[in-house]
Amino acid sequence: MTTILFNPDITDEERRTRLYSGQVLVYGASPASLALVEHARDLIADAFGSRDPQTAQHDMQVEDFAALLAELKPKFIHHSESKKRISALLASFGCDLDRTYFDVPRMRTSTSDDYLAAGISYAFHAHRDTWYSAPFSQLNWWIPIYPVVPENVMAFHPQYWGNPVRNGSRRYNYYEWNRTSRLSAAQYIKTDTRDQPKPEEPVQLEPQVRVVPEAGGVMLFSGNQLHSTVPNTSGRTRFSIDFRTVNIDDVIARREAPNFDSECTGTSIRDFLRASDFERIDEGVALEYEGLMPTDG
Ligand SMILES: [Fe+2]
Repeated sequence: MTTILFNPDITDEERRTRLYSGQVLVYGASPASLALVEHARDLIADAFGSRDPQTAQHDMQVEDFAALLAELKPKFIHHSESKKRISALLASFGCDLDRTYFDVPRMRTSTSDDYLAAGISYAFHAHRDTWYSAPFSQLNWWIPIYPVVPENVMAFHPQYWGNPVRNGSRRYNYYEWNRTSRLSAAQYIKTDTRDQPKPEEPVQLEPQVRVVPEAGGVMLFSGNQLHSTVPNTSGRTRFSIDFRTVNIDDVIARREAPNFDSECTGTSIRDFLRASDFERIDEGVALEYEGLMPTDG
């Protein structure tokens, strides 16, 4: 069974519990989510100038488009306003800002008709974020920047909640990946040769669930959910924001989604910043999460 809740009137704790059990939650646009979207639109407008960013792919050389994104995306990721507006969004959702940590927000694009599906605009095959060293309590927040349609969103493959998929995560070490592969994303235009954890058996992509929130709407799901980028046939480039959160009490207590099939090593937990002051997670907590005992003294 796949359960999707719309605008549920529940506490943050109940929300986390539902997400760890594989439910998906969707919220309408709110002043706080629209403030984040506005900020993203401003940066996009600066980058694209007089072009409509959603259709610019049709009259730009793909190399130029990739170069534009390679400058725009890090700007959004590292902009201080991005962090501030996410913190405000989390507060508006009733998250305890002292116990909630987020990683820097990404701006994602999905171009239409395979224009650019590698590197800086990677079209994600079916995966769980937990194959990429995400903590099992990680929650994903996904927000369209402009209106989206079923032909350019993302898909869930809910029959794999509770069912393992043979996958390449055993070859994935987060620290190794950061050292070697990440910085080079923009150089991949036609194909992406980086060894990412992929399914190693045929995945039934149908039935699938596509949620289509309004622009500024917020979709929340567990990072353990099997999901993929939909092949974009809409004629428009999709722009979305996503970021991830963990609740530190859940990290410590291992209140989290169950592990079905992830075998990667390393953890992305040190990437998360406390929503109240952007401090990193305590190293003792990170080490314990990693399965190592902190050393005395
Ligand atoms: Fe993902």
